Amino acid sequence: MLHVWEENWGLRVAECPCDVHFIEWVRENNLRNQSIYHFGTGGHHVVGVELGGDGSGNTIVGITASTGEYEDFIQMSIERPKILANYMAFFGDIYLTNPRLLPDFDIVTLFHVAEFRSEKNDSYGALTERGMIEALLSKTRPGGYVLFYPGSYAWAIAKPLVEAMAAEGQITREGAYKTLEIYRKPA
Ligand SMILES: C[S@@+](CC[C@H](N)C(=O)[O-])C[C@H]1O[C@@H](n2cnc3c(N)ncnc32)[C@H](O)[C@@H]1O
Repeated sequence: MLHVWEENWGLRVAECPCDVHFIEWVRENNLRNQSIYHFGTGGHHVVGVELGGDGSGNTIVGITASTGEYEDFIQMSIERPKILANYMAFFGDIYLTNPRLLPDFDIVTLFHVAEFRSEKNDSYGALTERGMIEALLSKTRPGGYVLFYPGSYAWAIAKPLVEAMAAEGQITREGAYKTLEIYRKPA
């Protein structure tokens, strides 16, 4: 059985500000017409709805492993169809990422690395944490951004993976923004 995420996450900025900080980072840097991949939509879908609906030309593909969050996306889309012009959420397991099913992205958010993967994912041969990051990096354009979230409770696991990839030259640290770590794929 698929490792479904059994919750439906509402926007809880005090507890988990990563999505809101991401939106602020995109806007403060005036990033427009960017193709964005977002790991973990939440039931609020704030990244797709906000960045897709603000006239910036940004487009967002978001993944959720929660049936409730996916149903919320469907309901939102029925009630506010314009959302669909720039935002697509899909239901799946990020640890089953197949690069052949995805377009290339300018920005990839990986805020929840190591938070949810377990032996349930192993049972169907899912990618490792590192394999998942590398699969998404393969879909990141040269010079594109990959963002991480040190506020994650799993950052102690994610950080060494990120730093190892940086040491290998796969990604380069650009800096920090609020609660986020900003890396780039070398151009
Ligand atoms: C704690 S919520 C955070 C949502 C949002 N990023 C926020 O900060 O408000 C975790 C998100 O990760 C998603 N998720 C968990 N496991 C996943 C997996 N294996 N593949 C894709 N998404 C997953 C959930 O569906 C949920 O949207």
